[in-house]
Amino acid sequence: MKKPIIIGNWKSNKTQEEAKEWFQKFKSLGTTPDCLLVICPSFTALSVSKSTIAELNLAIKLGAQNISPFEGGAYTGEVSGTMLAELVEFVIIGHSERCTLFHETDDILTKKVEQANKSGLNPIFCIPDERAIIPNTAKIIAYEPISAIGSGQADTPEHANSVGKIIKSMKPDCAFIYGGSVKPENIVSFVKQEFIDGVLPGGASLDPQIFYDLITNAAAAT
Ligand code: PGA
Repeated sequence: MKKPIIIGNWKSNKTQEEAKEWFQKFKSLGTTPDCLLVICPSFTALSVSKSTIAELNLAIKLGAQNISPFEGGAYTGEVSGTMLAELVEFVIIGHSERCTLFHETDDILTKKVEQANKSGLNPIFCIPDERAIIPNTAKIIAYEPISAIGSGQADTPEHANSVGKIIKSMKPDCAFIYGGSVKPENIVSFVKQEFIDGVLPGGASLDPQIFYDLITNAAAAT
């Protein structure tokens, strides 16, 4: 029996009010199934998410979607690890949308992981395939094939599992999760795989009912 890791990535969605409503609706759906649950709102919704989770006594942890590669100081627009550590325990680093659209390189990603570690945050390090360079201190590795992200065309669970096997042979202490078009209908086929410890849904985390169905299915199957 393993407790699945489920990390919802809201991407650039939800105002503060919408974030609050999401947690209220989620709470109204019933007992939270036994998973390690992390929600990653935008920076602006982190504070209200933290207070709402506490008010509602929900078993949900928070993650950020980005972190500055710098310690702090004269870096206009950047949010440092120290600032994030007041609000979250996790941070997504290396998502393909950031690498493609915002030109984040391996060097930048390594610096981001260093800043996360310095601030006591757990990096969720995303990779497009098993050939990616993975910083040594990354402890949660999210395999997200680019063609599967937001396309409705998930990888096959068997192939994702084979990538997990390779990653875990190199990094046995890491958790390995899969992301890319995960839905309530296909989540069981992923979390049942030997080398997959959880999932990282994007689109399917935006609606509380769909997300609740997703985690309920995952918890029942593991
Ligand atoms: P998706 O996104 O579930 O909408 O495919 C996953 C991700 O980009 O992390």
